Amino acid sequence: MKGEVILAKSAGFCFGVRRAVDTVYEQIRSNDSDRKIYTFGPIIHNTEVVNDLKDKGAEPVEEADLERIRGQILIIRSHGVSRRIYEKARALDIRVVDATCPFVKKIHEIADEESTRGRILVIIGDAAHPEVQGILGWAGEDAVVIRDEEEAMALNLEKSARITVVAQTTFNSNKFNNIVEIINKKGYDIRVINTICNATRVRQKEASSVAKQVDTMLVIGDRHSSNTQKLFDICKAYCKDTYYIQTVKDLNEQNLQSGIRVGITAGASTPNNIIQEVFLTCQKKKISNR
Ligand code: F3S
Repeated sequence: MKGEVILAKSAGFCFGVRRAVDTVYEQIRSNDSDRKIYTFGPIIHNTEVVNDLKDKGAEPVEEADLERIRGQILIIRSHGVSRRIYEKARALDIRVVDATCPFVKKIHEIADEESTRGRILVIIGDAAHPEVQGILGWAGEDAVVIRDEEEAMALNLEKSARITVVAQTTFNSNKFNNIVEIINKKGYDIRVINTICNATRVRQKEASSVAKQVDTMLVIGDRHSSNTQKLFDICKAYCKDTYYIQTVKDLNEQNLQSGIRVGITAGASTPNNIIQEVFLTCQKKKISNR
C-alpha cells in the first residue's frame, strides 16, 4: 500500500545482545559489594546505551586496563574474549561475569577442540572484529582468518593440512558459501561447521524482503557495527534509497515524503525504544503529509 511504513519483525537486539545488556543492568542493580563494575569493551555499539551504563557505574575497559581494575568485577560482552583474558582476570582476582553469547561460546569450544586435535582453524570473518579476535584466542597458533573470496583463493596451506572452517556469527551466508566452495577445491581434509547465527540470517532475510517492497529503506544503527553495515548492503541491493540513521533525529523530509513506502530495519545493537520512536515518527509524519 502506498504511504505505508513497514518495520522488519526481527529488527534490533538479538538474543545474545539482549542477554549481555540485561546482565550489566542486573549486575548494577544487585551489586552490594565494594567491587566496581566494568565491561570488557563497550557492551554494544550504541553510544546512548554505553553512556547510560557509564552514568550508572559500569565503565568499559580494555585489556591494557586490567591491572588497574584488580579485584573488581568484569563483564564479558556477547562477542566473547580469548582464553588469555580469563587467565589474566583470574591472576588479578577480577570477578568475571561471563555474558558471552552461547553461540559464540560454542565456536570457542570448537576452536579449542579442533586445534587440540591438530586441525587448523579457518575462521571466515573480519580479523579486526572483537568476536574473531576472541575466537583466535582459543584456536592455536596456526589459525587463519579469511575475509573474502580473494583471500580464500590465496589460501596456501600444505596439501596434507587438516582444516576446520567456522564463521563469524554475523557473516553473510551467501559469501560464506562462496568462500567455502573456493577452499573446498583446494583438496585439504576439510570440515565445515557453519556457525553463522540464525538471528543474523533471519534479520538479513527479513531486511531484504522489506527492502524489496519499499521506496525508501532506513537502517537504524551505528555504521561502525559490522552487522548494521551488512544490513545496509543487503537493503541497498534491493532499494537504492537506503539510508543509515542512528536515531529519530536523523530522519528528514526526503525519507518521509507522502506516498512513498518506507521500510525499517535495525542492527543487533539498536535498542527497541529507538526503533519504536523511528517507526512511530515515520507513521505520524506520513499521516500528516497525506
Ligand atoms: Fe549471539 Fe547471534 Fe546475537 S551469535 S550475539 S544471538 S547475532
